[in-house]
Amino acid sequence: MAEWLPEDGRLRRAGKHLCVEGVRLDKVAHEVGTPVYVYSRAAIEDNWRRFDAAFGARPHLVCYAVKACSNIAVLALLAELGSGFDIVSGGELARALRAGCDPRKVFFSGVGKQAHEIERALHAGIGSFNIESESELGLLEQKVEAAGGKASVAVRVNPDVDANTHPHITTGRHCDKFGVTFEAAAELYRRLRESEVLEGCGIDCHVGSQVTDPSVYARALRRVLAFADELRAGGHPISHLDVGGGFAIAYDDEPVPAVEDYVKTITDLVADRPYRTVVEPGRAIVGNAGVLVTEVLYVKGAPGKNFIVVDAAMNDLMRPVLYRARHRIVPLEARGGQERVCDVVGPVCESGDTLAADCTLAGEEGARLAVLSAGAYGFSMAGNYNSRPRPAEVIVDGDEWHIVRLRESTADLLDGECLLPGMTGGAPA
Ligand code: LLP
Repeated sequence: MAEWLPEDGRLRRAGKHLCVEGVRLDKVAHEVGTPVYVYSRAAIEDNWRRFDAAFGARPHLVCYAVKACSNIAVLALLAELGSGFDIVSGGELARALRAGCDPRKVFFSGVGKQAHEIERALHAGIGSFNIESESELGLLEQKVEAAGGKASVAVRVNPDVDANTHPHITTGRHCDKFGVTFEAAAELYRRLRESEVLEGCGIDCHVGSQVTDPSVYARALRRVLAFADELRAGGHPISHLDVGGGFAIAYDDEPVPAVEDYVKTITDLVADRPYRTVVEPGRAIVGNAGVLVTEVLYVKGAPGKNFIVVDAAMNDLMRPVLYRARHRIVPLEARGGQERVCDVVGPVCESGDTLAADCTLAGEEGARLAVLSAGAYGFSMAGNYNSRPRPAEVIVDGDEWHIVRLRESTADLLDGECLLPGMTGGAPA
């Protein structure tokens, strides 16, 4: 059977060797070591451009969701294309600014914005605060009054639509913590109308992630549009509708809607209304543009099981253990060895540390493997559990490749910690 490789990832086999664009992944692994995340510049740029082009001449802004993959080089590629950025923290703001974003294209989402984050975002002059509660609106108003000037605001509504995705990443039902009901939103817009420093310019919603059915957007958007039209009729200066992100990618050879299908669903509904449409794709821009390269440490058998123990683990890629997400794993070099059904597991001391269960692979010790579709929510969710340094990150650009984040060292792990007064400890390893 022909090997499946994601179409939008710029991955291909050159002879036996797995390549990203014109670069052999084994060469990167040899020089940088493993585990390492490798992203394709062309894939990231193509994916963003597809969203942008699908809107044609209609007023729109594609705001990349920084949380999907936050490396500043990735953000800088997108900033150069004219992307906006959906951020959820002061840290993400700092990254977007460092990457050279246009602050007016930065939209600040999130249920728990802190005072210092709001202050920094005001200072930067961001495009919109996506407000999720009355108290947050009050805090923002105070901060704008103190800083001087004005701020643009969208209220995040919770349209009570079930995106039928994994429960951890469904966000648009009333039982989810996100947004406010339409009734509560109407009250917030009344308050915004009275405010001298806040302007309610938009409406925001986001129904979930890896949403495979475009009609979910239609259901949410119909409600949002009816509300927006009512607000405009009442004299509110609503100029943009932020539909959020959530557009699905293929993790396997399963069919998923094309970017153009999602966008058409949205533009057909907005039609000729006078709103600028904002979308916040994360996964669909970087998910299939990245792989995690790892090396087989040991192969071991157990009654009824084969384990391939690799040097990447759940701390490097949390998706399988968190969501039972399935990522394809393929060898960097197709050697044609004896294939077996096996679990690919990491070195972390938890049985949940399985990168993929029941794969058919010929992973011999020393062989290198690529975990596919790992560009979104891969490195950005990585941690240091078991005191494991986080992987390096590399961007491939045609026939060249560049390290855009060094592998963490053991010294990095200890950085910032200290012993109690009077303790001398030992020498670092
Ligand atoms: N906008 C907002 C307000 C969001 O909360 C998110 C994702 C996005 C946009 C981007 O969604 P995307 O287009 O990437 O689906 N860690 C999970 C996904 C969590 C998504 C959180 N919010 C995963 O690995 O599947």
